[in-house]
Amino acid sequence: MAIKLSNRTKLIKPSPTLSLSAKATQMRQAGIDVVNFGVGEPDFNTPEYIKAAAHKAIDANFTRYTANAGIIELREAICAKLERENGLSYSPKDILVSPGAKASILNVLIAVCDTDDQVLIPVPYWVTYPYQTMMADAVPVYIPTDVEDGYKILPAALEEAIEDSPCAKVLILNSPSNPTGAVYSRDELEAIAAICIKNDILIISDEIYERLVYDDVKHVSIASISPEAKEHTVIVNGVSKAYAMTGWRLGYAAGPTHIINAAGRVQEHTTSCVNSITQKACVTALNEEDDSIENMRKEFWMRRDYLFDMLMKIPHVVCKKPQGAFYIMPDISWYLQNNNQGIKKASQFCDLLLEKYHVAMVDGGAFGLKGTVRFSYANSMENISKGVTRFSEFLKEISS
Ligand SMILES: Cc1ncc(COP(=O)(O)O)c(C=O)c1O
Repeated sequence: MAIKLSNRTKLIKPSPTLSLSAKATQMRQAGIDVVNFGVGEPDFNTPEYIKAAAHKAIDANFTRYTANAGIIELREAICAKLERENGLSYSPKDILVSPGAKASILNVLIAVCDTDDQVLIPVPYWVTYPYQTMMADAVPVYIPTDVEDGYKILPAALEEAIEDSPCAKVLILNSPSNPTGAVYSRDELEAIAAICIKNDILIISDEIYERLVYDDVKHVSIASISPEAKEHTVIVNGVSKAYAMTGWRLGYAAGPTHIINAAGRVQEHTTSCVNSITQKACVTALNEEDDSIENMRKEFWMRRDYLFDMLMKIPHVVCKKPQGAFYIMPDISWYLQNNNQGIKKASQFCDLLLEKYHVAMVDGGAFGLKGTVRFSYANSMENISKGVTRFSEFLKEISS
């Protein structure tokens, strides 16, 4: 008889973004010209100055286990970054370097959640948050948002969720947001911080898209609102998105020492330290940044404008202009209600779009928001243009 799986893993579904990318790759290998709007990673190469530092680390035989929490130069470089860019003062003992921001979040959740504690998650959310909450034996509580409010939680909704959740322990906040590109303003963060402080809720502030903001929008870390807010926050950040380093696997958590220590103990018995060469490369990435990082942001900004303008020309597509990250999440509900193909759900829509028009995108249901789809504009202008044209033709065909 097959070994029975744990109840915990039965709740965990595969990542829809990863399985979509696998399907798109398969089609490409079969010679089909697929435009993939599903990818959640920059299409740029890691900048040369970072790669050079990695070569140097290998040549110097920097290839052994390091301190579990990360090499001291790197934790110092992270502290310097937090001071320089966020006006926050941390010391290396408040920093835990992990194999990706994904791992940072799980380490912290395991460190702070007891069985049946509740984790507040604004909708739409990054697909991983609910599953990591369940892996920590905690329970996700979803906070609704509205397109009118830019998909950001209102203080009243947060207060109501806390009132209804006697075991609320953590709020996961993600600004700039995957999947909507929403960015919280300082005023909005002040209101959220005040509620969390009053109710002793820990904020896990996922700031992985911090550098990717557009127009005159400024990223504000909720930890910088006040000393009390800092005491109630663990910042999670990393190099994957802004530095085009997804495959290097490095993220970090910065927060109250006792939480960072506990998360570090979790890491000691799971992954241990991050790859030693990656750590050296990241010291250079943070300390010696050149203009390649800003150039990537400008390119994303141009693509955002182009994609958004194209989407706005399509009738009945409702869309909020994203202020950050590299995603746009239009509402296509009208087409789900008015089509000649029997399509009722965004997931069926995405399947048919991929099959007939060779455009891959993720169903918004995966992020908790029905009637929407998510475009990633981590894609060339040429592909964006080709893909949106096909998307628009598909909408015309199914609604005529
Ligand atoms: C909101 C958000 N947080 C965290 C991550 C994970 O980043 P990392 O590559 O550092 O694990 C992602 C990656 O897609 C993300 O979208």
